[in-house]
Amino acid sequence: MTDVEKQVASLREALNEHNYRYYVLDEPSIPDAEYDRLFHHLKQLEEAHPELRSSESPTQRVGAEPSSAFQQIKHKLPMLSLDNVFDEEGFSQFYQRIQERLALSQSPVFAVEPKLDGVALSIFYEQGKLIYAATRGDGITGEDITHNVRTIPSIPLRLLGDGFPDELEIRGEVFMPKAVFDKLNKRAEKSGERRFVNPRNAASGSLRQLDPAITAKRGLRFCAYSIGYSARGDVPDNHYDVMQWIKRLGVPISQELRLCESEQACHQYYTDLAQRRAMLPYEIDGIVFKLNAFEQQQELGFVSRAPRWATAYKFPAQEAVTVLRDVEFQVGRTGAVTPVARLEPVFVGGVTVSNATLHNMDEIARLDLRIGDHVVVHRAGDVIPKVVRSVPERRPVSAKAIVLPAQCPVCGSPVEKLEEESIARCTGNLICSAQLKEAMKHFVSRKAFDIDGMGDKLVEQLIAKEMLADVADIFSLKCGDLKLLERMGEKSAENLISAIEAARRIDFSRFIYALGIREVGETTSRTLASSFVSIDDLVAASEDELLALKDIGPIVAKHIVHFFQAKNNRELIKHLLAAGVEIRYPDIQQAQSLAGVTFVITGTLAQYSRDEMKELLVSLGAKVSGSVSKKTDYLIAGEAAGSKLTKAQGLDIRVLSEDEALEMIRTQ
Ligand code: IVH
Repeated sequence: MTDVEKQVASLREALNEHNYRYYVLDEPSIPDAEYDRLFHHLKQLEEAHPELRSSESPTQRVGAEPSSAFQQIKHKLPMLSLDNVFDEEGFSQFYQRIQERLALSQSPVFAVEPKLDGVALSIFYEQGKLIYAATRGDGITGEDITHNVRTIPSIPLRLLGDGFPDELEIRGEVFMPKAVFDKLNKRAEKSGERRFVNPRNAASGSLRQLDPAITAKRGLRFCAYSIGYSARGDVPDNHYDVMQWIKRLGVPISQELRLCESEQACHQYYTDLAQRRAMLPYEIDGIVFKLNAFEQQQELGFVSRAPRWATAYKFPAQEAVTVLRDVEFQVGRTGAVTPVARLEPVFVGGVTVSNATLHNMDEIARLDLRIGDHVVVHRAGDVIPKVVRSVPERRPVSAKAIVLPAQCPVCGSPVEKLEEESIARCTGNLICSAQLKEAMKHFVSRKAFDIDGMGDKLVEQLIAKEMLADVADIFSLKCGDLKLLERMGEKSAENLISAIEAARRIDFSRFIYALGIREVGETTSRTLASSFVSIDDLVAASEDELLALKDIGPIVAKHIVHFFQAKNNRELIKHLLAAGVEIRYPDIQQAQSLAGVTFVITGTLAQYSRDEMKELLVSLGAKVSGSVSKKTDYLIAGEAAGSKLTKAQGLDIRVLSEDEALEMIRTQ
């Protein structure tokens, strides 16, 4: 062997070994990047030395040109199907029948594994080399899909080791893992292509591509479940050992394969897998029970197209067809208006389903749904049932379009859908009782009004008893009202009332946070509180003004403007202030934009006391002096200003009215 030959051989061996570890043992030993490096190196050597090329090389998975049709292949042994049972009773009958027919005194041993929901495949090896791969077809003749199957990395092009018959047919299932299916569908959606209906269809469609390069990109996997024809060589005498042997030859088998030695153990296996079904990375639709000993299998033989020695114990179907009777709209915590399907009740995934989520209007458009349509409902595990497709060919003429309501079904406020979002929302915010409950919990929470003793349960009771119509009503609660509630004694009622009293005075930033504006958390609330002099100022802020603040991006700015544009939110603020809420504006946290400027305040101000005005100015870094001198920059003069005004005028000092002063403060 030349050096290059040796190198090529060792690279091929290494790549095959890594494939085996990855797909069969599920224990990769090198990172993907290292695999890619070895692969690339081998490819380069093969390109430089065409005489060393081989169809068995791991680089030769996608070799063939697209073809125009598939050839037929006659199976050496027919590919049969399985009988089904659907419940415990059906399985018991199957079990007892076998015991009787075999006249066994003890329990028969079953090899048990999941029934994969994919496409049956037969792969044929001669002297360990993959010769052809065929679909099941009608069980007698299938289609030659060798070129496509060669692209599936978990199917070895050459068997490992040497202890195998000259001719060996392995049968199993080709499937698409759930994660791959989701990824392909997301991609299809983005590029406006058709989605795959389910992983089985996707696997089947991918195998039927005329161009193997497409199949190669579909992330297909293979899992063997039996051998078919074999010649000139020994095979083990029972299913379980055959599978372990196949695995050693480099072909993946189910990790869930077990032997069950009693009927009870069989049930246990079924229940366990039924529970884990939703968590498995691939779809399964039941459990296959096979009598383990080949001798016993032969004794029982076949009835028509299915063996007597095996059965598929099916899980309840996860999909069913029913009629979409109506669509109602529910309002969630954040005001999201969500369409919910009201269905003709249907048994699916083990329960009767009469409601299913539809997510949003875009989803309804994507599914092309109308009221009256036949729809496919999917329910897997404990997941909320979903409408996954409509059946357009069964659409009645009377089918009705589904329209997003213009008004919130709970509070009647306008429903809005921003262009960049798929979710429609009720603009009622805190006056919408669907949103009120959550808003109220937020409002009284520790970082907001921090009302001690106002737990979730209490909030729910108060809303259920209609004692609170908006959050401001908390401040009008009386001890007598509270005593009417469950588990509320005199003392707790009093404590709660004092807690409410104590919460009345609140920092500006907490007040903003308490309003529950979308995406305005603690930090943003603080930024806003130190950037606006008053709540009125914040209410009037434009998007541009907000965008100029640090850490406020276009989305948050939109949410804020949006919130204050809603009339009911502005009214709520008025209501809060009227109910005695007193906002404490920040002291000296603001920018020191008036640093070095000296003010004198005189006369009676209308909106603020002289002290408050002083506080405001000082908070911006200004100096406020008690008497007018040459050093005075501005005099703020209120009603009935006297000598200070005269003195200032004499010194040519600029005199400001209260409004002018506030304007100056605002524009700092
Ligand atoms: S054994 C003679 N085992 O289910 C028995 N089949 O109706 C041959 N399938 O088309 C089948 N997982 O493709 C067997 N673990 C499993 C299976 C399985 C899926 C498919 C198979 C066949 C169908 C049987």
